[in-house]
Amino acid sequence: MKRKLDAEKKLNLALKNGPVACKAEWYDVVSSTNDLLKESAQNGAPEGSIILSDMQTKGRGRTGRLFYSPKDIGLYMSILLRPHQKMFEPGLITACAAVSVQRAILKLYSLSVKIKWVNDLYADGKKLCGILAEGHFNQSGNPDYIVLGIGINLAPPEDGYAPEIAGICTSLSELTENREVVLSKSELCTEIVKEFFHFYTHLSDLSFLDIYKKESCVLGNEVTYVQNGITKTAFAIDIDERARLVLETKNEGIIALSSGEITHIRPKTYNE
Ligand code: BTN
Repeated sequence: MKRKLDAEKKLNLALKNGPVACKAEWYDVVSSTNDLLKESAQNGAPEGSIILSDMQTKGRGRTGRLFYSPKDIGLYMSILLRPHQKMFEPGLITACAAVSVQRAILKLYSLSVKIKWVNDLYADGKKLCGILAEGHFNQSGNPDYIVLGIGINLAPPEDGYAPEIAGICTSLSELTENREVVLSKSELCTEIVKEFFHFYTHLSDLSFLDIYKKESCVLGNEVTYVQNGITKTAFAIDIDERARLVLETKNEGIIALSSGEITHIRPKTYNE
C-alpha cells in the first residue's frame, strides 16, 4: 500500500479551486478504495477526501459482487461525502455521479456513453463503469457519511477479461481505439470530481436529472426486473425526482423502483 506522492501532488494541484475543497491520496494497491475511505471517514476525514488506487485486491460492486480491478488498467476511486440531512437522497447522489462520469468521458474523449439505471455506464451494449455508494447512518437515522466509489475500465487485461465478464464489459481504450487512455487517469479523476461537485452542491435543483434522462439507455424500452423473487416485464417511462425508475406494468399500473437491477433492455413489444 505505497502512496504515489508525485502523482498525488499533481492531482491535488489540478483538484484545487473546485466548489468543494478536495484532497486526494493515490495508492499503488489497496483492498478497496471504498473500504479505505470508510476508515478515514470514521477517523473524521472531511467531505471531499478522495482515494485513488492503481489496483484493488477486493474491489466490490453492488450486492457484494466482485469488481475486477487489475493493475493500471482501470480508474478505481472513492469520494467522501457528508451530506446535510435536507439534501440527502441516496438515489440522487448515485444518479448525479453517473451523469458526472458520462460528461467527463464525453468532454475528454468525445465519447458518448449511456447510463443504465441506476448506476452503470454502458457503451456498445457493454459495461464500462460501475458506481457503488455506501452510506453510514447515525443513531437517529441521518447520514453520517457516504462513500461514493467509481470504477471505470480503461483498457482490457493483456490476457483477456475474466470468463465471468468476457463479452459483457468494455473499456475506454477499446471504445476510442487508443491505448494511451490508461495514462489519463489523473485528468479523468479531476474532470469527474469537478462535474460531480458542480451538481452535488446544487443537488436539490435536480439540474443533472435532465441529462440523466437524455443519456439513459433504459427509458422508452421494455425491461425485465426482479421483484420479491419474481421476474417481471414492464415499460420504462421515466426517472422521477428521487431518481427512481418509473415503470408502466401490465398488472400493477405505474410503479417506481428505488433499487434493484434491470436486465434485457429491448424495444417495446407489448400493448396494454
Ligand atoms: C458495480 O458495478 O456494481 C459497482 C462497482 C463499483 C466499483 C468501484 S471501484 C472503486 C470503489 N471501490 C470498490 O471496492 N468499489 C468501487
